[in-house]
Amino acid sequence: VLDIRKLYAQSDCFTFDPGFTSTASCESQLTYIDGDQGVLLHRGYSIEELSEKSSFMEVSYLLLNGELPSKQELDDFSYTISRHTMLHEQLSTFYRGFRRDAHPMAIMCGVVGALSAFYHDSTDISDPVQRKIASHRLIAKMPTIAAMAYKYSVGQPFIYPDNKLSYTGNFLRMTFGVPAEEYEVIPAVEQALDRIFILHADHEQNASTSTVRLAGSSGANPFACIAAGIACLWGPAHGGANEAALNMLREIGTPDRIPHYIARAKDKNDPFRLMGFGHRVYKNYDPRATVMQKTVREVLAALKVNDPIFEVAMQLEEMALNDPYFIEKKLFPNVDFYSGIILSAIGFPTTMFTVLFALARTVGWVAQWNEMISDPGQKIGRPRQLYTGPAARPYVSVDKR
Ligand code: ACO
Repeated sequence: VLDIRKLYAQSDCFTFDPGFTSTASCESQLTYIDGDQGVLLHRGYSIEELSEKSSFMEVSYLLLNGELPSKQELDDFSYTISRHTMLHEQLSTFYRGFRRDAHPMAIMCGVVGALSAFYHDSTDISDPVQRKIASHRLIAKMPTIAAMAYKYSVGQPFIYPDNKLSYTGNFLRMTFGVPAEEYEVIPAVEQALDRIFILHADHEQNASTSTVRLAGSSGANPFACIAAGIACLWGPAHGGANEAALNMLREIGTPDRIPHYIARAKDKNDPFRLMGFGHRVYKNYDPRATVMQKTVREVLAALKVNDPIFEVAMQLEEMALNDPYFIEKKLFPNVDFYSGIILSAIGFPTTMFTVLFALARTVGWVAQWNEMISDPGQKIGRPRQLYTGPAARPYVSVDKR
């Protein structure tokens, strides 16, 4: 790693690195990835162990505070989060301004950005206590906001949070309760979704996290920064890939059609890519995809669902992993390849997939944002460019052009 800041400060030099393929934008203690070995650690703990033994609330605490909580600390943290799950009542009228068929990610961008208009005390980012409250508010309110976006799209009444339930159980009830009083959380589903949240909690300087950091580097309020992250996550090359992956698997439909799609993915004249395949950092199996594949089996078994798409996904993976094109380019399934099958089995429409990703990633975003703001050496993010436009030239008045 070459720290070239001092050298460049004394000259007009800068690096040209489109897509930031070889540029570190910050120092961070949150998440470590070894893309060649397929390793992902949060604060030193492996994603395999965390997803097997921990809970989303515990991982949230870990990311925010640096250490695993004691039992008392975890109870206190979960209690604090549960105290912030309600939305300002006026925000429910805000939803009604959207078209019913609005994509829920569009609603998420708008509503999360609008939180800054309701929680003025959380916009003073110079105060660590206010930053902490803003972080808790965001983590706590995301399930409520996401569930309301879903309820609005299907024309059902909003359901208020039930703070006696777990973070994930409460979200399931707010989403699928019809009516809320009769909804019973299925433990296997609650556990699987909680694990999916853990798998998405943070992933160092990906596009949306970098967006949050860049927005935050100007001193923008946390709600605006997270709304910016949500907007970036929406793209099909990033968080939108889980929706695109399931749509692709459904389009493939049966195993006999897989070779046709593999051929398309390899054809340089065809823009088609295998969605849920490939990663900027992982040049090995994404460890989150391994956990996800195992979780698909558990959820389908628990719900007694026999989704033929799972078989298509398994066979597609096997064929791709044995194909010289994918071997040479080191393209492996990523976290998005299998997640859609689980979410679909639970009952989420594809348009909600990226919303769930945003809900979970909010923890990583706020932890990264806090880390950046707490850094005394933090500067506004300001990349340079290589100018390729015309050289200086005289203005020609309109009658002479
Ligand atoms: N299918 C077919 N070919 C692919 C795929 C794919 N899914 N992904 C990459 N390639 C090929 C490219 O065509 C390129 O080939 P070339 O060298 O002959 O030009 C080569 O592999 C490298 O691809 P890049 O796009 O340069 O790699 P980059 O690191 O910029 O992109 C990305 C990574 C965006 C994830 C890419 O692999 C992709 O588009 N995947 C599909 C979308 C997806 O699953 N996104 C989710 C990412 S994980 C997440 O956000 C949580």
